[in-house]
Amino acid sequence: MNENIKKILNKKNNSKLVCLTAYSKNIASILDKYCDIILVGDSLGSVLYNYKSTKKVTLDTMINHSKSVRLGVKKSLMVVDMPYNTYRNPKEALKNAKLVMKQTKCDAIKLEGGKKIVSIVKRLVKNKIPVLGHLGILPQTDKKFTFKGKKSFERNRILKEAQQLEEAGIFSIVLECVEIELSKVITKKLSIPTIGIGSSVNCDGQVLVIDDLIGLTESKFRFVKKYINIKKIIDGAVKKYKSEVLMKKFPKTKHSFKT
Ligand code: KIV
Repeated sequence: MNENIKKILNKKNNSKLVCLTAYSKNIASILDKYCDIILVGDSLGSVLYNYKSTKKVTLDTMINHSKSVRLGVKKSLMVVDMPYNTYRNPKEALKNAKLVMKQTKCDAIKLEGGKKIVSIVKRLVKNKIPVLGHLGILPQTDKKFTFKGKKSFERNRILKEAQQLEEAGIFSIVLECVEIELSKVITKKLSIPTIGIGSSVNCDGQVLVIDDLIGLTESKFRFVKKYINIKKIIDGAVKKYKSEVLMKKFPKTKHSFKT
């Protein structure tokens, strides 16, 4: 088993897992020092390309961004999201996951879904492809993005699917917008770590989209905490640059070449 995956499993009941998304090398290299997992999420569809849904994200786009991220990740576990319609059955999933692993040199892939993907997970794991699961809101297929676990049938289904996925061999699972008490129960019942996004402190770890955390997006999701307004900082720097160019204060001789 990949040493980084062993480390992730060992954190269960010991220490929280720190996870963030990255879509390129420069950001990934900053996050790498602090993260256990860096996820190349298909959220890049909305964050970078303004797509209304992640359905439009292609395998090529994921591979290209992941190659860039790989250059910045030295110690964290690097996970790549398999986009919509690239894992409709075990054969298709294996072919595409192998391609992603080979081209991007990532450590694992992430799949959204419950019982529908159990046979797919089994096939991938059998072929030594580590899989991170994803339950709760499933952005690739859900029509409504409301939190999960309001009704008891839904709570039972999500818990059962989490257990089925664990049995199928996933090494960890993202829980997206899962109700507080339900994430507590799932986290307690599973022996693999749960990673929450909008699913409370009850999870074994947390993940956020880095662009939301640093204030590059206008995200209004309840679960997002903006730690800095990086847009404002960039704005200030570019404004100063513009003014210095117009006033001929930049470049100075030290920025130029002379024989
Ligand atoms: O696509 C993504 O970025 C994700 C995380 C938010 C978990 O799936």
